[in-house]
Amino acid sequence: MICDEQYKRIMSLEIEINGKTFESPLMNAAGILGTTASSLKRLADNGSGAVVTKTISHKPKEGNKGPNLIETNYGALNSMGLPNPGAKNYLDELKSLKPLNKPVICSVFGETPRDVKKVGRLLKEYVDIFELNLSCPNIEGEVISSDPEIVKKYVEEFAHITNKPIWVKLSPSSDNIVNVSLAASEAGADSLVLINTLKGMLIDIESGRPILGNKTGGLSGEAIHPIAIEIIYQVYKKIDIPIIGVGGVSDNEKAIEMVMAGAKALQIGTALKDDIGIFKRINKGIKSYLQEKNIDLMDIVGLSHKY
Ligand code: SIN
Repeated sequence: MICDEQYKRIMSLEIEINGKTFESPLMNAAGILGTTASSLKRLADNGSGAVVTKTISHKPKEGNKGPNLIETNYGALNSMGLPNPGAKNYLDELKSLKPLNKPVICSVFGETPRDVKKVGRLLKEYVDIFELNLSCPNIEGEVISSDPEIVKKYVEEFAHITNKPIWVKLSPSSDNIVNVSLAASEAGADSLVLINTLKGMLIDIESGRPILGNKTGGLSGEAIHPIAIEIIYQVYKKIDIPIIGVGGVSDNEKAIEMVMAGAKALQIGTALKDDIGIFKRINKGIKSYLQEKNIDLMDIVGLSHKY
């Protein structure tokens, strides 16, 4: 028999991360429907437990030349290049989000630690949590999070300018993501966001030409789900701070799987693009699962590590 209290706990799906309350563990991934305040509000109205902005840089960025998105039946390959209006121009969007009554997570990027601190200083008043994007595969040079020392520097320096929680989004492309995660955690990261897209490329066989304008891009969607699960599993074993899982979550089964690997909350990217109803559907599926098993969400975080 489930008592009232237990039933309420199972049905609420409320979680706490870094001192903030999330009414559901699901939210959008940065870059998906997060460009304007109205698109972020729409996410919140449709069951997202928090909203994540597009990645914002200090100066406006045009992004890479097109084509910059290819959809396939196994996932999407994008080479957007972090297009955004720049921190000053984004301020009004953030201001008009208040009061949203859901955590506002601002994804930020800088070519150097100094650069990203400028973004943080400008926006911090209107943000609940920062997500440091150290893992975009579509900018020139190495992915920032390939090197634990560089990650450490970014996080330490950013922590000087804010007392808001800092989430750090890492790339699956680094040789040792556990060491990189450790470096982020030791430098003061409050949570890890695992994983960003994987570098990929597609070629048009009529011409032999790479399809994306930037030649390479980041692969997302169901194809990367098992990679995300394995990385979250490895990092959860070694590191204590919360993990926000992202990578190919498209239904409640994949969501539950990711929580069992060790994620406390989840971001949805590719599957959300054309399906705003996905949060409500996955929330409902998770609740039915928990009700059937008579357990609550926290009971299944990292459950696979028992075996
Ligand atoms: C992009 O804008 O290139 C995608 C965002 C990311 O991969 O971080």
